[in-house]
Formats: sequence, structure tokens, C-alpha cells
Amino acid sequence: MEAIKNYISEHKERFISELIDLLKMPSVSADTAFTQDVLDTADAVKKALTEAGCDAVEICETDGYPIVYGEKIINSDLPTVLVYGHYDVQPADPINLWTSPPFEPVIKKTDKHPEGAIFARGACDDKGQMYMHVKAMEYMVRTNQLPCNVKFMIEGEEEVGSSNLAIFVANNKEKLANDIILISDTGMIANDVPSITTGLRGLSYVEVEVTGPNRDLHSGLYGGAVANPINILTKMIASLHDENNHITIPGFYDKVEELSKEERAEMAKAPFSLENYKDALDIDAVYGENGYTTNERNSIRPTLDVNGIWGGYTGEGAKTVIASKAFAKISMRLVPNQDWKEITELFKKHFESIAPEGAKVLVKPHHGGQGYVTPINTIGYQAASKAYETTFGKKPIPQRSGGSIPIVALFEKELNSKTILMGFGLDSDAIHSPNEHFGVWNYLKGIETIPYFYKYYTELFKK
Ligand code: BES
Ligand code: MN
Ligand code: MN
Repeated sequence: MEAIKNYISEHKERFISELIDLLKMPSVSADTAFTQDVLDTADAVKKALTEAGCDAVEICETDGYPIVYGEKIINSDLPTVLVYGHYDVQPADPINLWTSPPFEPVIKKTDKHPEGAIFARGACDDKGQMYMHVKAMEYMVRTNQLPCNVKFMIEGEEEVGSSNLAIFVANNKEKLANDIILISDTGMIANDVPSITTGLRGLSYVEVEVTGPNRDLHSGLYGGAVANPINILTKMIASLHDENNHITIPGFYDKVEELSKEERAEMAKAPFSLENYKDALDIDAVYGENGYTTNERNSIRPTLDVNGIWGGYTGEGAKTVIASKAFAKISMRLVPNQDWKEITELFKKHFESIAPEGAKVLVKPHHGGQGYVTPINTIGYQAASKAYETTFGKKPIPQRSGGSIPIVALFEKELNSKTILMGFGLDSDAIHSPNEHFGVWNYLKGIETIPYFYKYYTELFKK
């Protein structure tokens, strides 16, 4: 299959320009101002899958944004790979922090990407990574090297919780039947340290509202005599961690899977420089749960973080006021065995119980999902490992990630299949942040590596 390298060098300009066209479409699922753009992007994905050689490509309507489905079934005796990805992107704000407009992709060089990286919202998460699969498919079909059956399912609501996809999956088990699910929506350690993601954290996302007096008050006339919702909210939030940075919600850790000494020692072998980590973020120290390393804190340990907090006067100058209400959005990252609905309940019960008299607390659960860990003694993992070894010249390291793709646990439950997470992004690619980018080298390396997964997986499947 040296041929894939030639195919890439022959077509790479087109591969890049096609991705750039897709990135120009602002498919922000969270913001209704972009509704038409999200729908147009689904059409563009449909067209791309058709051109890549999928049969029966369709737009599957849901109560939200559509799911694009396509397949190529060549022989029912051969295995079937289901590729999942998402064509929606995160909102681009704060826009003023972008060095070039988020939906006008440009290629710029960076320290980590000397060959250049495409800067645009969605470049890495997930349009660039999803499109690698489309181009790998194109290669396999056009050169007659597709070794097995393929199904593509590309959704438009991943960044807002995939609730309609969950319904679609439950209602279409037959259509989506597969032997293995393949996703590129994660990262790897470094371009010279390939890794395969073997775990994702679960998520519970809630919004809280604290209400004090029935109207905003003069902070002189009433200050000191009534509960100030912002004071109360921040105090309540601060109490959610103790002096060791453990989360104080009763029962929160009850089901947390504790890794053995051996497993932790194995994890610690992954190359990691604390100095580089701090430098990249301009921080003079890391912070987190006592007794755990940085890599453990952001992968095998659960967390609780405020994602946004507001209330009172935030405009120019000063206004002396005690707000009637204060709000916060809080995410809890969960690890295997923690049930997100149970954790949401524990949070709600606890948060309501710590509200002082004189303030009312409302907890509104948003979305969530279960964490996921995939075993490495499967033919799926072995095939992926061999694929990386072939194209990177190095065996990839299994690594648990801190991010979440809640639908993966649901795939396992509903479709009874394991997922292989072949991510080609870097943590420094700034997904969800201003100046998101995806290395051109990474994009092309992904396209090169994916066909080997199909080849090795089909070979191992036959044995
Ligand atoms: N692709 C990311 C998740 C990710 C990124 C996992 C890097 C591992 C490494 C995905 O699009 C995402 O952002 N997920 C959300 C959860 C979702 C329910 C909004 C997340 O992790 O915050
Ligand atoms: Mn993603
Ligand atoms: Mn994302």
C-alpha cells in the first residue's frame, strides 16, 4: 500500500482545498443564527460522501440537525466498519482573539506545525478529522482497495449533546449494525509520539441559579442585611472542593474506578514534560487533586469546574447594586463506573442542601453521558496499533483522554460494538478556543493511516 503515499502527494492540494471549503461553512450547532449554515453543511457532507464512493448516501432528518448516512457494502461475509464524526462546530467567540477570521481558513506555520496548519473553527474538531475518513474512503474506492464494508454516520449535534443521535441510534440498530466503530475526534501525544485514545471521560453539565431578594437592590441601603446571591453562589461553589482539591459532594467518589499501582505506573511511562506543559499555558504551577499527577488529574480522575458565572452589573464603570439573581454553568467530568444521571442527582441534592436561609437555589441539569474505556486486547485495537506503526514507524501508546464523546458509551450499549479512537489532533490545536487549527501534516498522516486500519482489521477479522 505504498500507493497511498503517492495518491496523497498527487491529490494533497485538492484534499486541502476541499477541507478549506468545508471549514468556510459556519456550522455552529449551539447558535440558531447559523441554522441554515448547519443544514448546508449537512448537504456538503452528503455530496462529499457520494463523491468518495459511498452508495445510498442520505440525509436523515431528526428533531434537530440531520445525520448524514452513507455506506458501501461489498460482501456480507466481510467485517463492517462504522465511521462516526460530526460536522457541527463550537461557537467561535471571542472572535476578537482570533488572529484570522474563524470561518476564513488560512494556513499558517506554528512551532508544533512547521509544515503549516489550517486555522479555522472546526479545523481539528471535527471537520478536519472527519474529512480524513472521507478522503481515505475515496482512496480505497478509487484504487479498488476497500477491503470490507463501510458505513458513515456524520452528525450535526455533537457539540450540543447528541440527543437526537441517541434516538436515531436506538431506532436504527439494524441499519447501523457493525463490527467496529472508528472515530477520529480525539488527539495524540505528539507528532513523533503517536497514541491511541483508550478512554473518554463522562460528563454531567448543570446550570445553577441562586435567587435572593425579589429585585435588584441598592447595595448601600440593603447591603449587609440580605443574602447577596453572588456572594452566596461563589461561597457555595468554593465549598465544592476541600483543601486537597477533592470534591465534597457526598457519594461523588463512591463508584470511581481506582487504578492499580501497576496501571498508574504504566500510565506514567507516557512521555510528558511538566515544564513544557506549564510554558504552553503561561502558568507557574499546575493545580489539582492532591495525590495525583497532571496526566492522572486530567484523565482518570473526576472533576468539577465552573464553565461560566454571571449576575449583577458587569457593564462599564460602577453601579452599586445587589443583584436579585446569580447564575453559573458547571461541568463535572466523570470516570468509568460513575453514572452521569446519578452524579447529577447527587449534585442537585447537595447544592440545594448547602443553600443558606434567605437564598433560593435551582439546579437545572443540561446534558451528560457516560465515560468509556476500551480494552487493548481486541483485534480493533491491534489493527489500529499496526496501522500507526506502519505510517509513523513507531508503536502507538494507549492513552486515556480527559475529553468526552458521550455517544461512544451509548454505541456500546445500543449497537454492542467497541469504538476505536484514532485521533490525529494535538492538545495545542486549540479546539473550542480561539485560533483552532489542524496540522496539514496531521491531516495527511491521518488519511495515510486510516486505510491500513481497514486492511489490518479485515485481515485479523478473518483469522
Ligand atoms: N472532540 C471533542 C472531545 C474530545 C476532544 C475528546 C479531544 C478527547 C480529546 C468533542 O467534540 C467535545 O468537545 N465533546 C464535549 C462534550 C459534548 C457533550 C459537548 C466535551 O468534551 O466537552
Ligand atoms: Mn469533537
Ligand atoms: Mn468539541
